[in-house]
Amino acid sequence: MAVEDNTGTLPLRTEEDIVASRQKVRALTQLLKFSLVDQTKMITAASELSRNTVVHGGGGQMRWELLDEGLRRGLRLHFEDEGPGIADTKLALTDGWTSGGGMGLGLPGSKRLVQEFELQSAPGQGTRVSITRWK
Ligand SMILES: Nc1ncnc2c1ncn2[C@@H]1O[C@H](COP(=O)(O)OP(=O)(O)OP(=O)(O)O)[C@@H](O)[C@H]1O
Ligand SMILES: [Mg+2]
Repeated sequence: MAVEDNTGTLPLRTEEDIVASRQKVRALTQLLKFSLVDQTKMITAASELSRNTVVHGGGGQMRWELLDEGLRRGLRLHFEDEGPGIADTKLALTDGWTSGGGMGLGLPGSKRLVQEFELQSAPGQGTRVSITRWK
């Protein structure tokens, strides 16, 4: 495993960036030898959060970390933007709630697909979502 792959960032500004982030997450989950089902879970969650960063956050970045705690290995992804932020994060995590146009399933769905999920956001403070899956 190349050392430079242990952490890194990708920009999230365009549709092409969303595709690139999916490809990066697929490659990282394969590197970690995740099962096909677990690969798909992480890629699906990353895809939703990448899209939120682009569509709602006005663009930002995805940062990844390969975690190695000796007994377990995992992948942590951070989605970060300096956009308008979310006034009510509990509401935003409710199935079906959207501020407009969407299905309102991206955030709550992503949360169900991973083992650790953290959402930090406030109006004017941007949004940071971190997700982790362990192998
Ligand atoms: N990065 C972000 N910046 C600002 N607001 C966000 C961000 N991510 C999510 N939100 C807010 O949280 C709401 C819920 O997000 P969620 O992804 O669950 O649904 P959606 O994007 O509206 O629809 P879907 O993802 O199902 O197409 C969004 O409608 C938006 O108002
Ligand atoms: Mg969404």
